[in-house]
Amino acid sequence: MKGRILVTGGTGYIGSHTVVELQSAGYEVVIVDNLSNSNADVVDNIEKVSGVRPIFEKVDCLDFDGLNNVFAKYKGIKAIIHFAASKAVGESVAKPLLYYRNNLVSLINVLELMPKYGVEGIVFSSSCTVYGQPDVLPVTENAPTKKAESPYGNTKQINEEIIQDTVVSGAPINAILLRYFNPIGAHASALLGELPNGVPQNLIPYLTQTAIGIREVLSVFGNDYNTPDGSCIRDFINVVDLAKAHVIAIDRILEKKQKEKVEVFNIGTGRGLSVLELIDAFERATGVKLNYKIVGRRAGDIEQVWADPTFANEELGWKAVETIEDTLRSAWNWQLKLRERGIQ
Ligand code: UD1
Repeated sequence: MKGRILVTGGTGYIGSHTVVELQSAGYEVVIVDNLSNSNADVVDNIEKVSGVRPIFEKVDCLDFDGLNNVFAKYKGIKAIIHFAASKAVGESVAKPLLYYRNNLVSLINVLELMPKYGVEGIVFSSSCTVYGQPDVLPVTENAPTKKAESPYGNTKQINEEIIQDTVVSGAPINAILLRYFNPIGAHASALLGELPNGVPQNLIPYLTQTAIGIREVLSVFGNDYNTPDGSCIRDFINVVDLAKAHVIAIDRILEKKQKEKVEVFNIGTGRGLSVLELIDAFERATGVKLNYKIVGRRAGDIEQVWADPTFANEELGWKAVETIEDTLRSAWNWQLKLRERGIQ
């Protein structure tokens, strides 16, 4: 066993895939999750995939004493991956204080407890949203951050700063900030995937729910952008590829390979795909025809963004390897499996 890792938000979409990858790399995982946007049966499915049941504690990271008890109970936690956060952009505009409280206070609690229990490393879930609309594409880690378009995006920026400031203050903490582009897809077993509450806000769950008939039609938000086909461009990254980046980041921290106490990496494919190209790829990969229509732009959308992942490729030795077709097939298989299980 390589050591004990605490994963906050470990039953969520990216968290659950990361737990499986940590386990297969030989780590022991303690999950903390309040189940606000996930379900306890994810723990069973993680066990089915990896053959190892992770430790699970239903605790809200806002609950300082509850979190303290987890550190005290599971001694020797070596590092933390902090996923736990609210992530719906639209909801954050309607309920900013909920987002600021959830996302900022959770991180503050984690950072306060780390030195007390001798935990030196944290990997933080950040987002390409910190770049806003970049002036230069593909975007590198050195691009300036732009004023956030939403309270959600602002919490990612502020949290990056909280970590930086804490390290500068002399706290014995090493951090890796992973700026994800657009994570999509599901585990090849179809036992883990994205399960949004209510009407999906993100493209892929809306798309697969439309393809299976839960939604009537997918609205494509805008075809008058300054892009080749007029729809927005994103860097869609397979969730398992993304999960693996976390394991490498944890190895790097624990093996003391970091060149700086806080390092930042773009986690993307380096390939920009438009929304219309993605729909086309889905139809080709699955053979399923999708009902979609073009509607007006969605407020707050970035026109186009994709990663320059060179730094992660060279420094971490990490690279996205899954094809978009396989990734879209995995998302579709997950949707089919949800139907089979009677969930959606
Ligand atoms: C947003 C956030 C990102 C966050 C992610 C996860 C911003 C700028 N981006 O990404 O930080 O990590 O959500 O919650 O805040 N689309 C449609 N029809 C739909 C849904 C989406 O056409 O029904 C289009 C959107 O206009 C966009 C693309 O698909 O161009 C991707 O949208 P989405 O999946 O919501 O992700 P982002 O907005 O890129």
